[in-house]
Amino acid sequence: MVKPVKKAVFPVAGLGTRFLPATKALPKEMLPVVDKPLIQYAVEEARDAGIEEFILVTGRGKTAMEDHFDHAVELEQTLKERGKMEALKEILDCLPGSGRVYYTRQQTPLGLGHAVWCARSFIHDEPFAVLLADDLIMAEPGCLKQMVDVYSQVGGNLVAVENVPREMTGHYGILDVAQEQGGLARAKGLVEKPDPKVAPSTLSIIGRYILQPEVFRHLDRQDTGAGGEIQLTDAMARTIGEVPFHGLRFKGKRFDCGSKQGYIEANVAFALRRPDLAEGVKAMLRRYV
Ligand code: G1P
Repeated sequence: MVKPVKKAVFPVAGLGTRFLPATKALPKEMLPVVDKPLIQYAVEEARDAGIEEFILVTGRGKTAMEDHFDHAVELEQTLKERGKMEALKEILDCLPGSGRVYYTRQQTPLGLGHAVWCARSFIHDEPFAVLLADDLIMAEPGCLKQMVDVYSQVGGNLVAVENVPREMTGHYGILDVAQEQGGLARAKGLVEKPDPKVAPSTLSIIGRYILQPEVFRHLDRQDTGAGGEIQLTDAMARTIGEVPFHGLRFKGKRFDCGSKQGYIEANVAFALRRPDLAEGVKAMLRRYV
């Protein structure tokens, strides 16, 4: 019996330099896709996968997210008075239950592994999920739900993966695959951001993880890796042999909202799925291309 995954970590301390000036005073995770901020998509995906506790690893200038996941008393009152019940429901639905969301700050930007390590006291000795809000995934059921279902069979560490063009391996954590069956790849090694010439495969890690708490033992060492940062990939690689490590080819479409083109594409794709917007947006796109 594997322990169920009830906690999720959201590393949201990044500076968002690729979206300046938009992200000068606005956390990049608050950028909207259509009308919902990226972080809310990630929190909802986690909630739909059975996550009950949400740990946001934030940084300076990120308090908008704390306000977002709290009551906005005046706004709620005004919406009620004006009979805007749908909008009211929308903002109330995004609230995690009382005492279910925690914030801690990554005081120094030392890398993704360090950000996750900052959440260690909230996790203790339980398995946990990590979601990178930049990776927005359109899927039904959600990507993390797909992973939780597979995890209940295989346990260990499990990450979402997809193939990328070989020239892109330097942007991702890459699996060294031992064996693959039915969309599930067992890895015998992992490399963070390898040069395309030496990458062991093109199967890359997308920002969804289910991890065993043992990973903290390796993160405790604070070893630096690619780019001089403390890498989550390196700590996960060291757990291979201790616990099983699998990559799951999830069913769905991932948008890299850390890049401008990916972000724009996500806006178009999500708008085209909205009954209230699809026709208008389609006609508008035709006028442009
Ligand atoms: C991080 C991880 C990398 C992973 C990627 C997915 O990289 O370090 O292993 O493939 O997220 O988006 P970053 O995008 O923060 O450079």
